[in-house]
Amino acid sequence: MADKMVAASDHAGLNLRAEGIKAARARGVEVEDLGPFTADSVDYPDFAVRVGEAIGAGRARFGLLVCGTGIGISIAANKLPGVRAALCRTEYEARMARAHNDANVLCLGERVTGPGLGAAIVEAFLATPFEGGRHARRVEKLDALDRR
Ligand code: RB5
Repeated sequence: MADKMVAASDHAGLNLRAEGIKAARARGVEVEDLGPFTADSVDYPDFAVRVGEAIGAGRARFGLLVCGTGIGISIAANKLPGVRAALCRTEYEARMARAHNDANVLCLGERVTGPGLGAAIVEAFLATPFEGGRHARRVEKLDALDRR
């Protein structure tokens, strides 16, 4: 699978989702936008499920989820099998989420993170490979939690 990304948000994450999609496409990443496509109030778990199911089914390597704080949508995403979602506020956290945790879903909060920083966080996340090594064993243990 190429570095395809699926993206979704709730109503509080529409603008930062658009910024993140733009940043990913600028890097040559194919992005499937899973909505929502109006500003109506929606429930963030419903949109976390859209991204989580696409990741779990192998339809995309990466996901982007945005809500107001990033908290609710990251909690929801991490309940889905195969998802390792990381809520990141800084580029450093995005790099570490990839390098050490092999995170496959980046969560952002539009009410916390501005558009410029948000785009930089997306770029850092997509640019950073998983380090493997000692971290691989820990990530395997994370994935084993899906089967408990
Ligand atoms: C919506 O008002 C808000 O609660 C939601 O976007 C998110 O911040 C929840 O964690």
